[in-house]
Amino acid sequence: MPMRPKNARTKTESKPSSSEIQAPKGKLGIMIPGMGAVATTFVAGVEAVRKGIAKPIGSLTQMGTIRLGKRTDALSPKIKEFVPLASLNDLVFTGWDIFEDNMHAAASKAGVLERDLLDQVKPFLTSITPRTAVFDHNYVKKLDGPNVKKGKNKMDLAEQVRADMREFKKTSGASRLVTIWCGSTETFIEQTAAHQSLKSFEKALNQNDEMIAPSMIYAYASLMEGVPFANGAPNLTVDLPVMQQLSRENSAPICGKDYKTGQTLIKTILAPGFKARMIGLNGWFSTNILGNRDGEVLEDPGSFKTKEESKLSVLEHILQPELYPELYGKFTHKVRINYYPPRGDNKEGWDNIDIFGWLGYPMQIKVDFLCRDSILAAPLVLDLVLFLDLAQRSKQLRGLGIQEWLSFYFKSPMTAPGLYPEHDLFIQLMKLKNTLRHLKGEELITHLGLEYY
Ligand SMILES: NC(=O)c1ccc[n+]([C@@H]2O[C@H](COP(=O)([O-])OP(=O)(O)OC[C@H]3O[C@@H](n4cnc5c(N)ncnc54)[C@H](O)[C@@H]3O)[C@@H](O)[C@H]2O)c1
Repeated sequence: MPMRPKNARTKTESKPSSSEIQAPKGKLGIMIPGMGAVATTFVAGVEAVRKGIAKPIGSLTQMGTIRLGKRTDALSPKIKEFVPLASLNDLVFTGWDIFEDNMHAAASKAGVLERDLLDQVKPFLTSITPRTAVFDHNYVKKLDGPNVKKGKNKMDLAEQVRADMREFKKTSGASRLVTIWCGSTETFIEQTAAHQSLKSFEKALNQNDEMIAPSMIYAYASLMEGVPFANGAPNLTVDLPVMQQLSRENSAPICGKDYKTGQTLIKTILAPGFKARMIGLNGWFSTNILGNRDGEVLEDPGSFKTKEESKLSVLEHILQPELYPELYGKFTHKVRINYYPPRGDNKEGWDNIDIFGWLGYPMQIKVDFLCRDSILAAPLVLDLVLFLDLAQRSKQLRGLGIQEWLSFYFKSPMTAPGLYPEHDLFIQLMKLKNTLRHLKGEELITHLGLEYY
């Protein structure tokens, strides 16, 4: 038998092959409930990149590479050349909002992008007008708007959203669709019996059960239409047995929740570093000022509680106090969000981190992150829609329901019931890239490295 040269690349034994991923033929329709700061920054950005007037900084699908084989192979193609992703030129958009502004007007009000850039993509943005929304003020206490659907019950509203989706598919000529929630943070809701099965959920829709929030109606509509759904807010939305069942049965992948940007991104970069070096933590105090509509919505205690739950669990999961009680058994973790209009979308986040080292000696770290919320979120939206579409075209992924390999993008990643989420950004990235290698039958990278010596 011929010997394999030492550095030759091998494919994995399980041998899934690229033929198990359908090619991205035709247009991909992106449907966005919530056409505010994040959504408009995303769509304007895609158009600016298509026109060659800006670069897709922050997007792994557009700028990232993936190493294949051994380090000595020097083979690191771009991710978008390695897996068959939809091209930016094939993306078409629609959305829903409670305000009537088209995307250009909404982007101007959001105040994230400069007028000069917005002017260059004005005709395209102006052409995207919001469909009437499924909305109820009781779930977002700080908002109210005129562009809202009327229906005899929640099932009727879901049927109207499904009709919107079919109409968009037909008129845009899209061959495939993806839904991504960029709407507001809703009030805190917990699972009830209504969320456990399709039968109980549909009964609850017909009975206008108050435990069914508007975001769940979009998710149900999307999954019933066989369309993947990503949840960018901390809302419960698809974190429900009924949605996971629908997702698997209809081969419509789901992922969530709550885009990992700003302060939580920094937290999940720093905390794994402390743990790697066995540095202890006494406390982590995080406070923010932000002045966009999201900040205003989060002033309501119900919406803030939803956000707080999503932000707080991160450190517990990364630091594993049960394994390291002397280091992480007693830390205090506080998160504050303050609505402060002068800053608009340009959030400032301060972290005071009390750590301790050798023999228990205390130290402090201060972080002052002057970030731009929607600038950090927009590339995540792009990656998520492209990867969810890939998942649906992949035989290996389409029937799994939750796409845990997309944890990289979320503050509060969804996992199979009973499984703790992986929050460490670097493990999340490895998981994502190994999933792509696996899909293409490439060897997984373990970073063992003994073979070089
Ligand atoms: N920007 C970030 O870094 C970031 C990070 C994580 C999560 N998020 C979440 O993303 C979401 C969007 O953030 P944003 O800054 O764009 O907020 P935004 O307030 O600018 O936009 C949200 C839009 O959703 C609309 N909306 C609310 N309920 C709706 C409904 N039921 N149907 C249709 N439209 C509805 C609102 O009218 C508004 O235009 C928020 O939930 C936010 O918490 C943002």
